[in-house]
Amino acid sequence: MIHFEHIRCPLHRYTFTVGPIRRWVEKECEGKVLNLFCGPTRLALNEIRNDLNPDMPADHHLDALEFLRTWNGERFNTILLDPPYAYRKSMTMYQGMICSPFRQLKDAIPACLYPGGLVITFGYHSVVMGRNRQFEPEKIALFSHGGAIHDTIATVERYVPTQLSLPLT
Ligand SMILES: C[S@@+](CC[C@H](N)C(=O)[O-])C[C@H]1O[C@@H](n2cnc3c(N)ncnc32)[C@H](O)[C@@H]1O
Repeated sequence: MIHFEHIRCPLHRYTFTVGPIRRWVEKECEGKVLNLFCGPTRLALNEIRNDLNPDMPADHHLDALEFLRTWNGERFNTILLDPPYAYRKSMTMYQGMICSPFRQLKDAIPACLYPGGLVITFGYHSVVMGRNRQFEPEKIALFSHGGAIHDTIATVERYVPTQLSLPLT
């Protein structure tokens, strides 16, 4: 059964600056976290931070897809995805930083995640990684911003591979 939460809070272009969202994501993450589009907010988590923008406080300033394809450290227990989804938003709100092709990004994630790990995504969709990639949906949170502003959908999906084809690092 999928657990559902509905939370009212303001909208901000840097999602985790909003207190109720930051507290929710800190509660949901498990273990060592890859914060792939980290923005300015440091989370109270054991996180590795990546953001293409060199002005952001991050451990790495790589394109997200390049990060996933070149990471040769230990796998993560949680991967956080909060990309700019639309080209227009990238240009107007994130200094022209454009998200990597999202399908390729999703395909690259399992090699960086421990079996049993989580992918937590903020965006407009309630299924992100999906069952074809061997992810099971566990939670959905709707952050309602009121008025005519669209909600933000956060999903929590757990990686439950039936067979392991890659050696664990
Ligand atoms: C929607 S904001 C979210 C930031 C952060 N999660 C927060 O709550 O503040 C998207 C972030 O992704 C970064 N970004 C844009 N394109 C990127 C890319 N291709 N690879 C890595 N980061 C990127 C932007 O610089 C921006 O900080």
